[in-house]
Amino acid sequence: MSTHGTPGGRLGHEEGRPNPFASGESRARVVGVSSGKGGVGKSSVTVNLALALAADGHKVGVLDADVYGFSVPAMLGAQAGPEMADGRVLPPEAHGVKVMSMGFFVEDDQPVIWRGPMLHKALEQFLADVDWGDIGFLLIDMPPGTGDIALSMSQYLPASEVYVVTTPQPAARRVAQRSAYMARKLNLPVRGVIENMSWFTTPDGTRYEIFGQGGGAQLAEELNVPLLGQVPLVPALREGGDRGLPVVVGEPESEAAEAFRSLARSLVGLGRARVVREELRIR
Ligand SMILES: Nc1ncnc2c1ncn2[C@@H]1O[C@H](COP(=O)(O)OP(=O)(O)OP(=O)(O)O)[C@@H](O)[C@H]1O
Ligand SMILES: [Mg+2]
Repeated sequence: MSTHGTPGGRLGHEEGRPNPFASGESRARVVGVSSGKGGVGKSSVTVNLALALAADGHKVGVLDADVYGFSVPAMLGAQAGPEMADGRVLPPEAHGVKVMSMGFFVEDDQPVIWRGPMLHKALEQFLADVDWGDIGFLLIDMPPGTGDIALSMSQYLPASEVYVVTTPQPAARRVAQRSAYMARKLNLPVRGVIENMSWFTTPDGTRYEIFGQGGGAQLAEELNVPLLGQVPLVPALREGGDRGLPVVVGEPESEAAEAFRSLARSLVGLGRARVVREELRIR
């Protein structure tokens, strides 16, 4: 991240500020939301899951790690950008959750053209220079694909957990599986599958499985992790994202909001991952 847009010039990590998520100073559970391909609903799941956790009383931060294709500020309706205090970046809050995104530092219509090392740096700054406070969860909206950000996460966030979002059809499942294998290779534990766009319910109560069925359950079985939740296809979810009022807060009685609350409870129920770092293993 260039410091463009942030008052105060150079940000702190150049002076060696430690990353609280790696040093153990932060007790937050770091939850990466990933998928092999774009458009399956990672960002929608991330923001709604964050709000469902917050509704249950958890303190939550959302880090939009989709540096090129940021969408979290708009989805959360986060209008004000971050402020600086004592050389640290204070993340704005939207609907009670803290948010940080590259979207706060570039104009909406400007492309972000960066090489891998700069992405790596940006992520580091979002972790070390942002005052996340005493959050219990840091949710990370990962960019589509399997590349640089996962690599950075494995270095900066040694205790992070990864959840894979897929749609129900077999093709999506296979792509999602590749991203899960990549995470595992990087030593990031994949802890669950979230199926999105699972079905559509008509007003008369009939369920249509528009994108097929079973992809989430099958992927979960192949990865030997639980299918943590299924989120239905609901127009209100898309509308909520477009309006900056996610369905969990905009239409809390809806089927989708209920699905996210149940997902949030399953995530809490899973508990923290036990981290087995290669370098700590006794040989
Ligand atoms: N369950 C759902 N019901 C209705 N619309 C949905 C649902 N999930 C996602 N959408 C819509 O589908 C589109 C893509 O979702 P989203 O942006 O969350 O996906 P993504 O995986 O983050 O995409 P990208 O890879 O581009 O970052 C959005 O317009 C969103 O509102
Ligand atoms: Mg996205």
